[in-house]
Amino acid sequence: MSGQRQLIYLLGFMGVGKSTVGVLLAEKLGWRFIDLDATIEAGEGATVREIFERAGEPYFRRIERAALIEATRSEPAVIALGGGTFVQRANFEFIRETGAATVWLDCSLEELRRRCAGKNDRPLFRDPLSFAQLFQQRLPYYRLADYRISTEGREPQEVVEEILRLKTF
Ligand code: S3P
Repeated sequence: MSGQRQLIYLLGFMGVGKSTVGVLLAEKLGWRFIDLDATIEAGEGATVREIFERAGEPYFRRIERAALIEATRSEPAVIALGGGTFVQRANFEFIRETGAATVWLDCSLEELRRRCAGKNDRPLFRDPLSFAQLFQQRLPYYRLADYRISTEGREPQEVVEEILRLKTF
């Protein structure tokens, strides 16, 4: 379980609101906000989609891991992970070893699909079937988070308040 670190990892599937909630949560806590995907994009000078296209997913996962380790040095911070970060075994173990709180933002597949549809920035959002399969594959990992908070039909601010009620960070 989470310790006394001033570090929170937000995890969950693409489109669930990790970045939106993360910015607001960090603001409330007066901590730094780190969006892992944005950090990667800034470091590479390319979008996540471009990185996937040019160098492939294994390369993306390597730099994602490096970004995760770097971000973790920034305590106090709220870190929004990418949808796949927590399901990589080495990352999962690393995060667990930090003793920081892990908060799974959860939402129905239908709602996630609606939120991601029409956008072209997510290389792993290809078609409804593969989206659903990836979602199912990842659920067992997401369930290992310390806390689960639903973002279904809720305003980001409401989600933030619920996270803040979980414990005194
Ligand atoms: C991914 C989710 C994306 C991004 C990359 C891979 C995934 O992040 O890291 O496209 O594996 O689910 P978001 O969850 O912020 O969309």
